Formats: sequence, structure tokens, C-alpha cells
Amino acid sequence: MDQTAPAPDVDPSARPPRPERGQEVEVTVDRLAYGGNGVARHDGYVLFVPGTFPGDRIRAQVTKRKRAYGEARLLEVLTPSADRIAPVAHHPGVAWQVLPYEKQLAIKAEQVHDALTRIGHLEGFVQEPIVGAEEQWGYRNKLEYSFGTSGSGSLVCGFHAPGSWEDIVDGVSELGSDRLARAREEVLAFCRAQGLEAYDRRAQAGFLRNLVLREARRTGETQIRLVTSRGELDTVAFSQAVEATSLVWTQIDQVGETTTGGYSELVAGRETITEELGGLEFSISPEAFFQTNTEMAEQLYAVAHEYAGLQGWERVYDLFCGIGTIGLTLARRAGEVWGLEIVEPAIADAIANARRNEVENARFFAGDVRLALRELVETAGRPDVLVVDPPRAGLSQKVVRRVIEAGPKRIVYVSCNPTTLAPNAAQLAEAGYALKQVRPVDMFPQTPHIECVALLERGP
Ligand SMILES: C[S@@+](CC[C@H](N)C(=O)[O-])C[C@H]1O[C@@H](n2cnc3c(N)ncnc32)[C@H](O)[C@@H]1O
Repeated sequence: MDQTAPAPDVDPSARPPRPERGQEVEVTVDRLAYGGNGVARHDGYVLFVPGTFPGDRIRAQVTKRKRAYGEARLLEVLTPSADRIAPVAHHPGVAWQVLPYEKQLAIKAEQVHDALTRIGHLEGFVQEPIVGAEEQWGYRNKLEYSFGTSGSGSLVCGFHAPGSWEDIVDGVSELGSDRLARAREEVLAFCRAQGLEAYDRRAQAGFLRNLVLREARRTGETQIRLVTSRGELDTVAFSQAVEATSLVWTQIDQVGETTTGGYSELVAGRETITEELGGLEFSISPEAFFQTNTEMAEQLYAVAHEYAGLQGWERVYDLFCGIGTIGLTLARRAGEVWGLEIVEPAIADAIANARRNEVENARFFAGDVRLALRELVETAGRPDVLVVDPPRAGLSQKVVRRVIEAGPKRIVYVSCNPTTLAPNAAQLAEAGYALKQVRPVDMFPQTPHIECVALLERGP
């Protein structure tokens, strides 16, 4: 959970008294931190309290006590915030559902601005209005459930209870479609009928670990991936019990919570599913990243396209390109596109996707941006426009230096974390790139996650 800001205005020479660990306090929440925790003050000492919202008067227990701030567990909402509305879903992962959607959007827009100005110390840019989501529920095209065992000993499948690596809350997610709900039901019924047992995370023993469901919203294709420890599975019965375009079984050796690595086998159907986006068709491998909100991915890419400002002759780099979605949609308006991505199956998809859509001016390479960017510049020549879409951690300082060396005129930064975009943009600003525009796009209603696109331009 990101607690970097909004920064508590604490003067280190006059630190307020700290409550003891375990102490119960009554406080009023006055804002939300990045990542979604409520921020309250106890005699001036800042406490982060998950599950609370500005305006809540609460009773909480201090769980962590650091010099500058602490963390507390909500015990009781004494007086709810006037903003609170009744929850729709009864599963974890939708902490912001108790805020009206307009309020969620306003907070996200404010947090983007706050990160850029307070963390990045950036100014003089235009922040465009946040693009609200088309669907506030049922929008996710991918759900990752975990298996567990209920108190009464039955097999359950759902999300982890908040703050727990062990307890699973049984139930279907309202963030997914009816199609994905049916897929979960079918798999769960099959596993129960077969008498399969959940992996016990404490004992590090047992079989069923995760269920990863994906759907192509435009074509109706589904991919079901059952993740287990090594063991026996009646794959014939599995393929008869469950309907999917792509049915995959992944066996994992390592302990702990992971759905990657291991050994995957195709149980039935095809390796990949096909989705339509921006007028193109995309094959998606089980291991490849694909934006989890298909409809809003189109809107996100539309902003990226606008910021790229292509006229048709430019050399474009698409770094962290996944299956090539951004690069391939830009290729129609670019001279040439060069994509770089670390996951090899994703690059295989990107190459197949270029061919499938008859895009002839795009090349894709598997490699770590940190190590391969220099080589790409040597092979392809310097980019005119460079698009980056890194994971939440943002760009390392080294990658930012490599980007500066590559010397594009424009940088289009697609970010899923404004608190890492901000320092990256600040480092680029020091090297002569001005932050011109930024636009948040809400890909994740009911959650605190924020996506945005930023345009940086090199001075003349
Ligand atoms: C947020 S996703 C964006 C993917 C793509 N642009 C899209 O919109 O679907 C980030 C991608 O970066 C890739 N990635 C992570 N670390 C990387 C690295 N060091 N070098 C290259 N790619 C990396 C991930 O595999 C993932 O596909």
C-alpha cells in the first residue's frame, strides 16, 4: 500500500506525541492517501486506516508506530462520512464502492495532480478532466481467484480477506461479467465433485491454488487457467465439465502465492484467445499482460494516440509493449514502430498480431528495457516518439537515463501509478523534458487504482 502522500505536514523538530501500539483511539478521517487508506490525525500524529473515508469518525487500534506516521485497524465507524453510500458487493477488492462514483473520480483526479505537484514538484502542465469509466461494475476481463477451505471444511473460491494471506472469502466478483461468473461456478463444481482439496498456505501443502479467468469481451472467448501444486488431475473430466475457448492447467512447485512460472499444459481448445481493440484483432497468451478493462483500454490508448501527435513519418518506440496493443494501433499513423517487452510469449503474440492485422511497419523484440534499450537505439535509430507503459514501480533511474539518451522529441507516459510517474517526470524535466499534459482515465471503478497518460516534450 502506497503511503507516500498526500504528505503529512509534519515538522520533524516538533513531532507530535505518538500513541502506543495496541492503543485504541478515536479520530476523524480527513483525506485519502494514495492506495486508498484513510488519513487521520491523533493529536497531530498521522495514522493511516484502511477501509475509512474522509468525514468518518472512527474508533481504531494502532497496529504500527513509526516516527512520522502510524497505521491503525478500524474497530468501529462511530459517525459515517456524509459521502458514504450502501455497498453493492460483498467481496474484497472494492474498497471504494462506498463512495459515489463521481466522488471516486474527483479523488483520483486530485491525487494525480497532487502527486505531480507535491512529489514531482512539477508545474505549468495542463491536467485534462478524468475520463470516467463506461461501466462501473462488471468491467474486468480478468479475475484471479484463490482456493481455500471454509470453517466447515468445504472448498471455497474467491479473493483473499483484506490483509490476510491465508483466509479466502468465498464468492463471485461483481467486477467480472456473468460469463466469468459461470466459468467460476463450473470449475468450482468440478473440483468439489472430484473431491479436490485447496492448497493450505500455512502448511504449504495441498493442491488447488488459483483460478485465473479471462474473457475477450468483443468475441466472447474465454480462457480458464487452473493453477495447482504438482499432482494428478483428470483432464478429460475437466475438459468435459468446463466450457472455454482455452482451458489451461498450470502446475507450480514453489511455495507461496504465485500464478506465474511452473509448467502449463493446454487441456482443451486453443493456446490463446482473440480480442478486438481499436479496430484490430489481438491474440492473448495466458502469460501475457492485457489491460483488464477492455472498453477503457480503448479510451486510454486514444489519449496516448492524441499525445503522440503522429503525422505519419515518425519512428515510434513502444516500451513495455505487452502483446503490442499500443504500438500496433499507433502503427497506422507512424512511419515505423519498434516494441520491447520482457515476456517472450507476449512478444510472440505481438509478432503474430502484427501479421494478423497486416501491419508491416512494426517490429517487436523480447528483452529487458533496462538492458536492451541502448541496443534498440543502435538497431533502429533514435525514436521521434517514445511510449512507455511500465508496471506500478515505474521506470528505474537507469531506464530514465536510457530514455533521455535515446533523445525522443515526445514521451508519452502511460502510468498505473501517479506516485512513480511523478518522480520519473521530475527526472525527465531536469533533463529538459517539459510535462505538457496529463489525463487520468478510470480503468478501475470501485477501487483506489489510478491510470493516467502524460505527455512530456523536449524543448527546442
Ligand atoms: C502495464 S503493462 C503494459 C503492456 C502494454 N503496453 C499494454 O497496454 O497492454 C507492463 C508491461 O511491461 C512488461 N515489463 C515489465 N518489466 C519489464 C522490463 N524490465 N522490460 C521490458 N518489459 C517489462 C510486463 O511484462 C508488461 O507486459
